[in-house]
Amino acid sequence: MPNSGTEARQGILLRGVTLWFTGLPSSGKSSIARLCERRFKKWGLPAELLDGDVVRTHLSKDLGFSREDRDANIKRIGFICHLLTKHGVIALASFVSPYREARDANRCLIGNFVEVYVSAPVEECEKRDVKGLYKKARAGEIKGFTGVDDPYEAPLKPDVICRTESETPEESAEKVIQALEKLGYLKTKGL
Ligand code: ADX
Repeated sequence: MPNSGTEARQGILLRGVTLWFTGLPSSGKSSIARLCERRFKKWGLPAELLDGDVVRTHLSKDLGFSREDRDANIKRIGFICHLLTKHGVIALASFVSPYREARDANRCLIGNFVEVYVSAPVEECEKRDVKGLYKKARAGEIKGFTGVDDPYEAPLKPDVICRTESETPEESAEKVIQALEKLGYLKTKGL
């Protein structure tokens, strides 16, 4: 693939933006988001990564996984991303965010919003089972687990689709960077 993150390449941020990564648990959202964040930091760009583990132990500690609670979680994160984006930061949000309406509401609020659909078949996510939660959900120890007995509404018109069954995390991150460039948020120069 051309332009794949060589030392000589430089990135210039033209305006703040929220990169919203959505997908099933273990689809690979956070790995791709982390790679993008690392690239932005290397370029000296302001970037802030928010993900489920951190947010749910701090900002959304009081919330569970009912639709109401998930919607509240996504709304809080959307508010923070809105502030960061307004101040010229790249906000990277990596959340299951299973409901289309909540994601679309954040797009409306934030404006500079790039939706990245991290797509992988549920069987593949279940095989990876990064935190062992699919196993627990199958055993009935967790109720309402996304992909097992709770819905996931895939984006209808995502700005980027990363197919993590067939792409490496590096290839997916590169796709995201190229989409940012195409959408006029970022300029890259060099090799
Ligand atoms: S969201 O639905 O509100 O967007 P969020 O991304 O914050 O979810 O948290 C998802 C993470 O919480 C999963 O990666 C998983 O580790 C854990 N989790 C615990 N219970 C559930 C559940 N019932 N459904 C989905 N994820 C769960």
